[in-house]
Amino acid sequence: MKSVKYNNLGEFIQALKREGELKTISHPVSAVLEISKLTDSESKSPGGGKALFFEKVKDSPFPAATNLFGSSRRICLALGVENLEHLGDRIREIIRMSPPKDLRDMLGMLTTAFSVSRFFPRKSRVKVPSCQQVVIKGDDINLFDLPILHCWPQDAGRFITLPLVITQSLSTGKRNVGMYRMQVFDRKTTGMHWHIHKDGSNYFNEYRKAGKRMPVAVAIGADPATIYAATAPMPRNVDEMILAGFIRNAPVAMTRCLTCDLEVPAEAEFVLEGYVEPDELRREGPFGDHTGYYSLADDYPVFHVTAITHRKSPVYCATLVGRPPMEDCYLAKATERLFLPLLQTVFPEIMDYWLPWEGVFHNIVIVSIKKEYPRHAQKVISGLWGQGQMSFCKAIIVVDETVDPKNPIQVMQRLVDNFDLTTDIVNAQGILDVLDHSSPFANFGNKIGIDLTDRIIGEPLRNPFPPVSMPEKFNEDALLSGIQAACKGVLSLRILRDDTARRNRILVLKVRKAAGLSGSYFAEQLLDADILQPFNLILFYDSNVDILDNSFILWKLFNNVDPGRDVILRQGRSVIDACKKGPEEGHDREWPDELSFDVNPFNARKEGYIR
Ligand SMILES: Cc1cc2nc3c(=O)[nH]c(=O)nc-3n(C[C@H](O)[C@H](O)[C@H](O)COP(=O)(O)O)c2cc1C
Repeated sequence: MKSVKYNNLGEFIQALKREGELKTISHPVSAVLEISKLTDSESKSPGGGKALFFEKVKDSPFPAATNLFGSSRRICLALGVENLEHLGDRIREIIRMSPPKDLRDMLGMLTTAFSVSRFFPRKSRVKVPSCQQVVIKGDDINLFDLPILHCWPQDAGRFITLPLVITQSLSTGKRNVGMYRMQVFDRKTTGMHWHIHKDGSNYFNEYRKAGKRMPVAVAIGADPATIYAATAPMPRNVDEMILAGFIRNAPVAMTRCLTCDLEVPAEAEFVLEGYVEPDELRREGPFGDHTGYYSLADDYPVFHVTAITHRKSPVYCATLVGRPPMEDCYLAKATERLFLPLLQTVFPEIMDYWLPWEGVFHNIVIVSIKKEYPRHAQKVISGLWGQGQMSFCKAIIVVDETVDPKNPIQVMQRLVDNFDLTTDIVNAQGILDVLDHSSPFANFGNKIGIDLTDRIIGEPLRNPFPPVSMPEKFNEDALLSGIQAACKGVLSLRILRDDTARRNRILVLKVRKAAGLSGSYFAEQLLDADILQPFNLILFYDSNVDILDNSFILWKLFNNVDPGRDVILRQGRSVIDACKKGPEEGHDREWPDELSFDVNPFNARKEGYIR
């Protein structure tokens, strides 16, 4: 695969076609739940399936495309590399040429190293840029003309899911491009779902404090590097368009909007021009999110459209997010690989890292380090919790450099062999991703660090693990009956690890919570049960969870567990409550529903799915 520079989305779609990566659907489809259902099954097929091109969308004159980035091959095609590691290698080369002295310098280095070179966005020289071939203003503006998707049954409406939201800092004049979903409220207004910790929100706060209207422009559909760049966690005040230029190896051509004072990618498919009022908020959501759950409704700013401009024959592009693996996993993988060298400028001891998809990017990271001194792992854990969007991370596991953090078998081995529940846990509190639902508090909660590195001189040794007697082979029926006699509500079990030569023996249970059978009931009974003494790590799940599905139980574990509340430790043993939580567990916030197409949206309220 050669490095390719696409000028616009159309060129990328053509490339996907040539490469056999695009499926065309020529019969008319509905943007309400039908495109999303087709996209869901396509992106869940092995390897991420194909990109989908919907030639005819009911009630819209425009075609739509989904799943454009949703496979290892397509994300590489999109970013013009044979392997995502090559992106990191290119960044490493830049760092080698001008190594930063410290964190501040690293951020500065990003701007200068990229901008002095040929990546700085440039003004389009075309008289009528393609994104403005058609201009719609005033009463003709109607967002419902676009094939904007209603993605999941309980979504509050239609959402623009792949927008490049362009804003400018009031204080520095610097541009920010971020991807924040937008709920269509009516013909001319949408929500603006920038989370509280994001740069878009930071810029908005400047306008809010100054009581000024904020100009906002939204590009939908651009060359793939530009789309990706909007999702990348660039440091504040570093223009994502420079990153796009770096990836494409050529600057992004920009043009000025017609009704607001901002620049947008000149070759975008659609542009929504408009503004956000400093003091206007509106209920936004719920929306089927990339966590695999509906993100809860909340108040967000409102975007007013003053003009829609588009190409003569534009393609609307969208993504469907949901329980991983979905398209956004591949965008996140690109970020993981691209940002490793940048992270290493601040933490040179970090050898590699992995954000498992089941952790939906903010729940868990596994990091390998070159350990040099006592408690080095704790230093890395604390450092990462203060680092950009890594600070949302709920759990950090640190392994030695001899372990490949991207290899789940090796990491599991370390966990089984090394993890001493009495010495290896670092507890903390801090900010959490807005989408976290496990904490009883919004945006804030408990975190856990786990140090699985080998102990070195100067560090207290792990406790020797007491000998346990375990039958040669458990009779699972007898074990289940014994557990059920000791603890009501246990439905089934799975023995995950039972090797007595290893430090940790792990059991997974399926339970039915009910009145009087809350998380703490199960924790107490399970820790007390004599029959369970050979197991020192017991995880329990709700009755609707397939405990034989490894990916599913990890996803539930990472999403549902508040490490401060749900990891119950007693004398070197632990029970972890990976179930849904409610007031019985001290969780008074709403708990979101899981995404499913099986719920009829019109019956959902009756069935109690929509509160
Ligand atoms: C498909 C997709 C949808 C996203 N939706 C949102 C969103 O609604 N709100 C948000 O704050 N971040 C969202 N993100 C993550 C941001 O795009 C990402 O954190 C980005 O770095 C934010 O940029 P900023 O730091 O410049 O604000 C989304 C990412 C993807 C890939």
